[in-house]
Amino acid sequence: SAQIIGGYFSSHVPGIGGAIARGAQAEPYWKPFFDGYPPVRTWLAQARPDVAIVFYNDHGLNFFLDAMPTFAVGAAAAYPNEDEGWGLPVYKTFQGDPGLSWHIIEELVGSGFDITMCQKMKVDHALSIPFELAYPDVAAWPVKIVPIAINTVQYPLPSPQRCYDLGRAVHRALQSWQDDTRVVVIGSGGLSHQLDGARAGFINADYDRFCLDHLANDPEALLRHSTEEVAAIAGTQGVEIVNWIAARGALGQGPHAEVTRNYHIPISNTAAATLVLTPT
Ligand code: DHB
Ligand code: FE
Repeated sequence: SAQIIGGYFSSHVPGIGGAIARGAQAEPYWKPFFDGYPPVRTWLAQARPDVAIVFYNDHGLNFFLDAMPTFAVGAAAAYPNEDEGWGLPVYKTFQGDPGLSWHIIEELVGSGFDITMCQKMKVDHALSIPFELAYPDVAAWPVKIVPIAINTVQYPLPSPQRCYDLGRAVHRALQSWQDDTRVVVIGSGGLSHQLDGARAGFINADYDRFCLDHLANDPEALLRHSTEEVAAIAGTQGVEIVNWIAARGALGQGPHAEVTRNYHIPISNTAAATLVLTPT
């Protein structure tokens, strides 16, 4: 069985990559946000994961509106990054773990998730920004990845319940894995934000607090809303919370402790949050 060492949850605003490229981390606008990451780095250095299972959403880099999988699981040996249009640097290529990917895919399809399997897959800022934040200045990423992309873009969107169940199926796959690989589960995106339309800039701090307060030990409280309701409550891009919900499902149902939490409004149009949970 894989050893699930915990979950790391982070917003993925592209502007964060710009701030890193400019060395702006200590500027007043950015400092309260970047201050959330030293505890994440300390925890990762001590927990030493081998593989990260990353629940994220593709923003038009690998998938577009012409063909949009609801759930897509990477099964590649390597995942290159590209900038899908934000003016970001191109980040280091991620190494995959095809054996673990195929094991997860078999468990998912076997339990009724008709996922798309991707032997060739590019990963966008939603995957690279949390890694840039967690592992600044490394020559090569110290963990392999299994990327799992959830559609948060082209309606109809999967429900929070369905995403949680997807995560629970990933948890079962980790439990039946052949060795004791150390796994960190990552949830990327959120919290509340809306990038376009009359409500651009909309943030709902009460809902964000509710999510942060319940994710560790009452994640089912986040499943009572449909994705459309989440868009109304948390903004059209606030639906990225489903990546956090799926990641929480993959951690398993036992109680979890909060290692660190940060919440800062706003970063660009987004309520930015950072969280690490460990099984107790
Ligand atoms: C922003 C947030 C996102 O989640 C994203 O994918 C792109 C932009 C923003 O707030 O600017
Ligand atoms: Fe996003």
